[in-house]
Amino acid sequence: MKNGTGFFQSGWDENDSKNFIDYGLFFVPERERQHKIICSAIPESTGSTKIVDICCGDGLLGREILRRFPHHQLYLFDGSMTMLEKAKENLGEYIDRVEFTRFDLAKDDWRHFS
Ligand SMILES: C[S@@+](CC[C@H](N)C(=O)[O-])C[C@H]1O[C@@H](n2cnc3c(N)ncnc32)[C@H](O)[C@@H]1O
Repeated sequence: MKNGTGFFQSGWDENDSKNFIDYGLFFVPERERQHKIICSAIPESTGSTKIVDICCGDGLLGREILRRFPHHQLYLFDGSMTMLEKAKENLGEYIDRVEFTRFDLAKDDWRHFS
């Protein structure tokens, strides 16, 4: 990662996104287990619940959430177009329950939901 050269001055750039997509399963220890642990913290509910995934990356956590909770809606936020496109690809079978937004974590204009 190169400080100051990424989008939104975060240091993260589209090349980092490509590397994370290709090697994330190796960079992050026990990534799939982490996803299962996060899902286990989401309360069971038969109704539709809105879940927000901030800096969703390639959507692999989101896919596990949508698989486990068939009534829930997922709002995915990320600053990288490369990541959002990959997340759309990974979540294709759940597309009617997802919404994607490009955002800058450092700003506060995305923190209001209707
Ligand atoms: C290490 S990846 C993690 C992705 C995902 N949360 C996961 O665990 O698989 C970090 C993510 O944060 C996003 N990101 C970094 N800085 C950001 C910023 N300032 N605004 C929005 N997204 C940002 C990147 O595009 C990337 O998808």
